[in-house]
Amino acid sequence: MADRDPFAIAGNVIVVTGGASGIGDEVVADLVDAGANVVVADLAPPPGRPTVIYHHVDVTYEDALADLVKDTVGRFGQVDGLVNCAAMYKTLGAKKTLEELTVHEWDDVLRINVRGTWQAMKAILPAVPPQGGRIVNVSSTTARTGTLGFPHYIASKAAVEGLTRAAARELGARGITVNAVAPGLVDDDATNELNDPDYVAQAVNRRSIKRTLLPADVASVVRFLCSGGSGFITGQVLIVDGGGVFV
Ligand SMILES: NC(=O)c1ccc[n+]([C@@H]2O[C@H](COP(=O)([O-])OP(=O)(O)OC[C@H]3O[C@@H](n4cnc5c(N)ncnc54)[C@H](O)[C@@H]3O)[C@@H](O)[C@H]2O)c1
Repeated sequence: MADRDPFAIAGNVIVVTGGASGIGDEVVADLVDAGANVVVADLAPPPGRPTVIYHHVDVTYEDALADLVKDTVGRFGQVDGLVNCAAMYKTLGAKKTLEELTVHEWDDVLRINVRGTWQAMKAILPAVPPQGGRIVNVSSTTARTGTLGFPHYIASKAAVEGLTRAAARELGARGITVNAVAPGLVDDDATNELNDPDYVAQAVNRRSIKRTLLPADVASVVRFLCSGGSGFITGQVLIVDGGGVFV
């Protein structure tokens, strides 16, 4: 019998938060193409992929997450992976300075982007089998560049990276890897809603590889981090931005 492809994920059960739109939707499509059983947790309505289980879940509500995990275990027996895409991004609104930002805006973004990421991890952990699993969080290169206009969002993504390291350290003994992907500016609806029309072109100019960053560029890296082939990588942040930011 041929050895199993180390990057194969067919049959793995993977929960994707924020998987109903944008980058998350592309991640879902990519994982489904690779044969994974994908369960989406999102507040947005499902885009209608017949092979995907959709749950209307706010990632900051423990009960909703618990219901999703219970249903997933009932269907598939376990959870092998979690991809935390859910975040306040598209709905950030107008760019603001430190002085313009309100406490309410700060709390909303930190609650969803950071607390929600932790809560989703906490919810799935009891369902991860003894042989281990994969957690992939989504950060952003803005956590390094400090891009103007979204200090609360940038702080939230830096916190997601810290949480990724803490979780990697804690969960390594259980065979669970925890990594983050940090995309640069993706050419998608969310980005074009938040920025001027020439903003994407400016980002392209700053890259080593001078083209727009597409959701598919992020999805393939997420798939790698969900696979067995990435099993000795943990606590890392993979920047996906065509060589714009080097660390
Ligand atoms: N688009 C970019 O340029 C870019 C760059 C770097 C990182 N990111 C990150 O990628 C991820 C996906 O972003 P996107 O561009 O697809 O944006 P998006 O706003 O289209 O997607 C976010 C998804 O999260 C969902 N969501 C929001 N709050 C939720 C909650 N409380 N519970 C459950 N679901 C919730 C939304 O409904 C949406 O489907 C986010 O973490 C974002 O911060 C995006």
